[in-house]
Amino acid sequence: MPPRPARPVSASAIDKHVYKVFPNDMNSHQTVFGGMIMAKCDRLALVVAERHSGHVCVTAAVDSIHFRAPAKGNDTLLFSLALNRSWGSSMEIGARVEAENSYTGECRHILSAFFTFVALDENDKPIDVPGVKPETEDQKRRFLNAEIRRKGRLATRNKLNER
Ligand SMILES: CC(C)(COP(=O)(O)OP(=O)(O)OC[C@H]1O[C@@H](n2cnc3c(N)ncnc32)[C@H](O)[C@@H]1OP(=O)(O)O)[C@@H](O)C(=O)NCCC(=O)NCCS
Repeated sequence: MPPRPARPVSASAIDKHVYKVFPNDMNSHQTVFGGMIMAKCDRLALVVAERHSGHVCVTAAVDSIHFRAPAKGNDTLLFSLALNRSWGSSMEIGARVEAENSYTGECRHILSAFFTFVALDENDKPIDVPGVKPETEDQKRRFLNAEIRRKGRLATRNKLNER
């Protein structure tokens, strides 16, 4: 089946998905456990990849995870994810997490990361996905930067495969 026509970023994006922090989300340092935030990003990025591609997708790589500030008990986490670019069967999805103090409305930037997903066909083989139509200035900038990151990822992968 040929891939569907190029799709706008907005067709698959997740904007400020809300997660209320509870005491069982904390680490022993009494800040929010980073692994929980990463797992939630991976799960939401999967939804973006599957919405865009129309196929089952798997995580191929995660890079540039930066925890910029701790999230605290009683914060509300806001997860935003969007497709930056697609190539053959792979897609880069950018994730941004903010922590909101819902009493005051103050927001802090907690995490940024890039997820690469690959779409699979019914035989679990990579299958081509639709292109992306970046529309806003931010989407166009992310589209261009994604190509630079892809080159770095694939160069690393190729070097490791040579060993
Ligand atoms: C991801 C996976 C399907 C790629 O399979 P593969 O046999 O390496 O396939 P290919 O070499 O044809 O690569 C397929 C695509 O994946 C991309 N890719 C593979 N490994 C990658 C990596 N480490 N980083 C970025 N992209 C990668 C390739 O660039 C290619 O993209 P393109 O079609 O857009 O050009 C395979 O490595 C796999 O199944 N990995 C395990 C996935 C998994 O279990 N994830 C965790 C649970 S969801």
